Amino acid sequence: MKKFSKIAMLATLLSTGVSAGALHAQTAEVLHWWTSGSEQAALAEVRTAFEAKGGTWVDTPIAGGGNARAAAVNRMLGGDPASVFQFSIGQQLRELADQGLLANVGKIASDESWDEKLPPLIVKAAKYDGDYIAAPINIHGENWMFFNKEALEKAGVDVPKSWPEFMAAAKKLEEAGIIPIGLGGQPWQERIMFNSVLLGVGGRDFYAKLYSTLDDDLLASDTMGEVFETFAALKPFVDESSPGRNWNEATSMVIKGDAAFQFMGDWAKGEIIAAGIEPGSTVGCAFAPAIDTAYIMTVDAFAFSAMDGEEEATPAQAKMAQVMLEPDVQIAFNKKKGSIPARLDVPADSFDSCAQMAIKTLQDPKTHLVSTGLFGVPSSVSGAIDDSISNFWNSADMSPQEGQEQFRQAISNAK
Ligand code: BGC
Repeated sequence: MKKFSKIAMLATLLSTGVSAGALHAQTAEVLHWWTSGSEQAALAEVRTAFEAKGGTWVDTPIAGGGNARAAAVNRMLGGDPASVFQFSIGQQLRELADQGLLANVGKIASDESWDEKLPPLIVKAAKYDGDYIAAPINIHGENWMFFNKEALEKAGVDVPKSWPEFMAAAKKLEEAGIIPIGLGGQPWQERIMFNSVLLGVGGRDFYAKLYSTLDDDLLASDTMGEVFETFAALKPFVDESSPGRNWNEATSMVIKGDAAFQFMGDWAKGEIIAAGIEPGSTVGCAFAPAIDTAYIMTVDAFAFSAMDGEEEATPAQAKMAQVMLEPDVQIAFNKKKGSIPARLDVPADSFDSCAQMAIKTLQDPKTHLVSTGLFGVPSSVSGAIDDSISNFWNSADMSPQEGQEQFRQAISNAK
């Protein structure tokens, strides 16, 4: 635990006369990667609710999902875990449970009937050995396309519904002096755009089959060839300053109209909201062009370290889990975050029009797709997927055929 938090705890202790044990039992160190303006504002809703219930929150923000996940794991392995840490539910979290590093929140989940309140897909993914190992807080979609309406009008283009339409629109935007795509050049962001192309060109069954089987024939197929051709054709529409750019900087380019489109999860919508813009007004949302309708879900959750090797959650961990699923917190948090509530029974009529579109789409189970991690893709394969896509995207002289072959090989070596 950090020094300052110990001092703060001691000060509270002296002023209240509460015993150290009781105070410690209500303290949670929360490690997360929510460092953008909208992410911080959303998380503050959870913090306020946790503190209102007598919890003490020690905040440990670490920029970048990959960095934060690595830090959470390293701290656990080093015997100094953060008691609560952000993670997406899925295979990588199960790998931590396999190593006995996680506590479960099964008791609070059963007291609060999570099984009945969460969608079955999330129930399954958040459980390990029959018990919840994480508190799911939201559902984000990864295959969104945000756009600046004025930029589109200036170039005289409509919102594209297919990838050929997108290419034609991008050309016109370029001629009008507008950067067609605001891209944050980091491997995970490049993968998000790649997966939108994959879904758009291959369709939802192809996407689901590919990532659930990692089948060599599918990876070598003509459809995959077309995916790489299409992805490669986007390269000229991204500006030279893209490498290393953060996702929220790319969103800001779209908000200002410097760039026309961003392919990103709807956490970008959180930034749009934080900028005081009603989503769907000057900045619009649509699904990335695709041959059929689907929603690539990713679920943010908080997991709980096994403190002193204890399998059962501590009182502070259980309180945190409970707070995260409270209806008021689900509403307040998700309205700022850009996501939709993880709970099905929470009224979402006050959410923006893009959120309504997500909710309506998800009513049809055929649209349900999940981000790579959720399928049971091991972390080594997820890493190989990101690296290989990024390598292709950033290699000026790699042909789409070479890119496809490199992707196939990277997956087959890692699986
Ligand atoms: C998380 C989002 C987050 C985004 C950018 C994603 O992995 O699911 O909640 O806003 O990363 O930080």
